[in-house]
Amino acid sequence: MTKLWYLWLTVAQHFVAAQRQTLTVAASGGNKSSALLYGTLYEDIYHSGDGGLYAELLRNRAFQGSSQNGQASTTRTTDFWHPIGNVQLSVEDSTRALSEDLTYDLRMNVPAGTTGQIGFYNEGFWGFHVDAAKRYAVSFNIKGAYDGTVIAGFKNNITGAQLSSTAISVSSVDDTWTYIPPHTFQPTSTPGNANNTFTFLFDGSQLAGKSIQVNLLSLFKQTYRNRANGVREDLAGSFDGLKSSWVRLPGGNNMQGLSIGNEWHWDRTFGDLKNRQGHVGTWGDIQTDGFGILEMMQWATDANQTIVLGLFAGLHIGGDIVSEADIDGYVDSTMNYLEFLKGDSSTTWGAKRVNLGYPTPFKVDHIEIGNEDYLNGGTSSYYSYRFAAFWNRIRATYPSIALISSIFPPPVPGSDTWVDLHFYYNQNTFVSLFDRFDNANRSLPIIVGEYACIHEFDNGSPEIGAQTMGTALAEGIMLLGAERNSDIVMGTAYGALIKEYDEAPNTVAVIKHSADQILQSTSYYVQQIFSQYKGEETVSVTTQFGEGIDPLYWSATRTGSTRYLKLINYYGPSSVVDVVLQGTHSSTAQVVTLTAPDCSSTNKLSQLGGESTSITESTIVESDGKFTVIFGNPCEIKVLIA
Ligand code: AHR
Repeated sequence: MTKLWYLWLTVAQHFVAAQRQTLTVAASGGNKSSALLYGTLYEDIYHSGDGGLYAELLRNRAFQGSSQNGQASTTRTTDFWHPIGNVQLSVEDSTRALSEDLTYDLRMNVPAGTTGQIGFYNEGFWGFHVDAAKRYAVSFNIKGAYDGTVIAGFKNNITGAQLSSTAISVSSVDDTWTYIPPHTFQPTSTPGNANNTFTFLFDGSQLAGKSIQVNLLSLFKQTYRNRANGVREDLAGSFDGLKSSWVRLPGGNNMQGLSIGNEWHWDRTFGDLKNRQGHVGTWGDIQTDGFGILEMMQWATDANQTIVLGLFAGLHIGGDIVSEADIDGYVDSTMNYLEFLKGDSSTTWGAKRVNLGYPTPFKVDHIEIGNEDYLNGGTSSYYSYRFAAFWNRIRATYPSIALISSIFPPPVPGSDTWVDLHFYYNQNTFVSLFDRFDNANRSLPIIVGEYACIHEFDNGSPEIGAQTMGTALAEGIMLLGAERNSDIVMGTAYGALIKEYDEAPNTVAVIKHSADQILQSTSYYVQQIFSQYKGEETVSVTTQFGEGIDPLYWSATRTGSTRYLKLINYYGPSSVVDVVLQGTHSSTAQVVTLTAPDCSSTNKLSQLGGESTSITESTIVESDGKFTVIFGNPCEIKVLIA
């Protein structure tokens, strides 16, 4: 056959394939599918935690530090606090501090002769969602003589209306801190926008010529499952809708910290909020650590997630590396950490957790030693001493925990040693990952612990933030490859779970939020339907053309006799797919379609156009031994369930 003739045949085959092809789905005989195939990475990045999932609404509540030009620091400021009336606000290094960890407070000086209402207000994190259907709880600490009422409540910036408030009786004295416990109230109206502030009003005549100090001021909206110091209901609900089965926490680069001392200190993040000093985060913000390790574990447990604990393994993301001489101190702390999470009340650290109100040990059967330890010169120390130092001690105490290396191949091999691969690539590369795992070593379990497709504009400039239907489908094609190989691909997780909508807009997350809205990206819906329609075992799919043919990609699984066939049409023409199911099956099939107007469609907040993606369901009937699935859109996912 001449080369030209061969070329024509190949092109023609593509053309025919794109128009109509038959896929035959086996009844059984594949690999067991990992129950953890679809998961998430949680870390506080661009207000995933503070100002995001963590339901605290006041910003800079305890004067733990600040952020200038995208750099977090321990410089204390009055940022996000403003005076009401003729008062002066300043942040001071307190002589008699609220606690050893919260040593700065806000002082309000009130000029002599003042009358009427005075005080201060907080801007919140991009405003406040005021919702008449929800309860709010306000609390604070005060030092200075005041015997009267503090009126705390919301004010709308557009109308200037005081929306709703609660009157709190305060009787405080000089030199001693008085704790004002949570006062619960429910707003009387919902303003319909987040352009609100939260005000604290005092009787000016009582404070004329004097000053008071306040610290650890707090406002919580009703939380997910009503947990104290818990998480935002709407974001947690959106997370539930993602249908993730596991979560790696607390990071990511944020867990590593930029430099020595700023890594995640688990033992500074539990107990009374007064005893949490906070720390300088990796992603430009000071972290309150209010959403500490126990709150994270509680949220993950409430959301029915398997936990993959991310451990600091000696590499700071700024490049500092813990020396071999010092690494054992970090390992010792880690062993206490694991006892704190997993131990019962007969253990030293387990008992401390029980005393904090968490009687049931957490299930932690997966641990990642480090994160991206190949960055910033980390590889050689990871191989020579860092990984082994953690692996040896953890393995000795917890023989069956899966220990995950952040570098391929793991420095210490062994059963229950896995590897974490991170995929941040452009669309074409994601598509090429479809068969990435087909010939991989079957004895090395893998997680794709972070993935996100980078959109490239025509001029070649990259944008990580534009999650189009096309980029989401490219990710989906990689996921099909993971699903087909889920005997070794134990799990996948998107690059970041949650971010604030406006901050760092050119970065991805499956969920973005503002004070009162949630945006679920195209990638969110891909993960959702992939996870929702997954069987317990893979089954093979064959086509009359021999191999899977671009632009259609697929993978199939089964639970019992029910088959789940996932099909992605990737920038393809209209086409028809006849599906033949071998073995026992129903004669009707459900077809779930994730679609969008075109391949470049993105999801936006409602005022900017709203979501472009939609999910529809239909039922089709078998005819002549085939279910006929029709693609009319160049970028679409269909799942056939029968
Ligand atoms: O969330 C995405 C960040 O990017 C993670 O912290 C890090 O591991 C990755 O490189």
